[in-house]
Formats: sequence, structure tokens, C-alpha cells
Amino acid sequence: MGLDESLPAHVGIIMDGNGRWARKRGLLRIEGHRAAERSIHEAVEGCGERSVGYLTLYAFSTENWKRPSAEVSFIMKLLSRFLERNVDDLDQNGVRIRATGRLDDLPEGPRRDLERAMKRTAANDGLHLILALSYGGRSEILDAVRRIASEVSRDELSPSELTMGTISSRLYLPDVPDPDLIIRTSGEMRLSNFLLWQSAYSELYFTDVLWPDFRKEHLFEALDDYAGRSRRFGSLSRDSDN
Ligand code: IPE
Ligand code: IPE
Ligand code: MG
Repeated sequence: MGLDESLPAHVGIIMDGNGRWARKRGLLRIEGHRAAERSIHEAVEGCGERSVGYLTLYAFSTENWKRPSAEVSFIMKLLSRFLERNVDDLDQNGVRIRATGRLDDLPEGPRRDLERAMKRTAANDGLHLILALSYGGRSEILDAVRRIASEVSRDELSPSELTMGTISSRLYLPDVPDPDLIIRTSGEMRLSNFLLWQSAYSELYFTDVLWPDFRKEHLFEALDDYAGRSRRFGSLSRDSDN
């Protein structure tokens, strides 16, 4: 937690509802994905204004590969296009672009664009904008377990020494604090494999707003709601009697 406990240091957003937004307008699903760019701007700007340190955007899950290939390739092209159109601005605003997930699964073009954007903004000290791409919480834990198993098999680690920290430090982005607040749009109330290990004590906020309609004011509503929550982490709250 940062200095001001009423502000989340790390916000995660499950950006859902693009397809339904498009359908409501008689458009193709991909038009919903296209319209998502504006909402990403609003979320990034809003986090900047409220001094949120880390914003993780769930953009594509390990399960989303099961979608029709035309939709998948459109989303991958959008990733390249988003970076092309926004890196200059993000860089100027001190945003550090990062990514989490099985990035090797991404097609070569978007992966290269992503790597270039990350390299270019690596020294920035503003908001960490983390794109979750081909991300799945279970895959992340599995990948950590594989690393640990191979260290054990090489006698670099013994099973009796394993701690929670052994696992945390082998996740994709070990330096990033757990998300304090996870927002999901479109009315669905589930995590869909987002940050499973890290969300153990996250506050959850659900809104019916579809992702392409998400604006700064919706983010601020979620942050205000968060400020009123009492986080106990299994202990007693500070104001509880004795
Ligand atoms: C979220 O919107 C974007 C991705 C999962 C890539 P959806 O495409 O899931 O939209 P709905 O849920 O079908 O409305
Ligand atoms: C979760 O949305 C993944 C992303 C937002 C990237 P989905 O639309 O894929 O989730 P489900 O299928 O409704 O659980
Ligand atoms: Mg969805």
C-alpha cells in the first residue's frame, strides 16, 4: 500500500463487454474492440490523475485463443495499432509500458511492437501500464511451478525451503505489488483467470458499464468506492472494539 491508504497502488481492469456493445448497435464484434481504445485512454489518464502506480489491463486471456481466428487476428492487429498510435504520448507522459502473460504466443509483428514499446519506455518513472496478453492466472502459476521444479531437480532449491515468496518471486512480474482493486465491466461477476495468485485479498468492483462506454468518471466511482472499503486481510479492523 502507498502512503495514502484510501488510494489503490495497483488497479487491475477486466475490460469486458466489447462484443455486447457492438451488438447493441448492430455492429460487428470487432467494432467493439476498436472502440475500446478511447476507454483505455480514459483509464490511463484517470490513473495518472489519481497517482495510481500500476494499472494492469486484461486485454487477451489464454482462453481467448479459442475465439474465431478472424477476431483473434483483428485483436492482435489492434495491439500493434494501439502501440503505434499511442507510444509517443504515453512516453511523453512518463508511462512505462509493460506486459504480462505468455508473450511468446503472440504473433511476431505485435510481439516485436510490444517489445519496442517496452524498451522505449523502460526508464520512465510514471504509471506502470501493464498489458495482460495471452495471460492466464493458472498458466502463470504453472510456469512458476515448472521453474521451481527444475530448480529443485538441479538441487538449487530444496522442497523444505519453499515459501509463499518462492512462488511470488517466480511469477511473471515479481516486482509489481498485488492489485488492491480489480474492476470488471459489463456486469459479469467473475475473475476469468485474471491474477489468481495476486488477487487473494484484492477488493472487487463490478459495474454494468460495457468497456467501450467506460470513462474516467466510472474509474473515479470505483476509486471512491474503494476508499470506503475496510481491508482487514484476515485480521481485525483498526476501529473494531477490542
Ligand atoms: C472483452 O470484450 C475483450 C476481450 C475479451 C478480448 P468481449 O469480446 O469479451 O465482449 P463480450 O463479453 O462478448 O461482450
Ligand atoms: C475476460 O473476458 C478476458 C478479458 C477481458 C481479456 P472474457 O469475455 O474472455 O471472459 P468470459 O469468457 O466471459 O469469462
Ligand atoms: Mg467477454
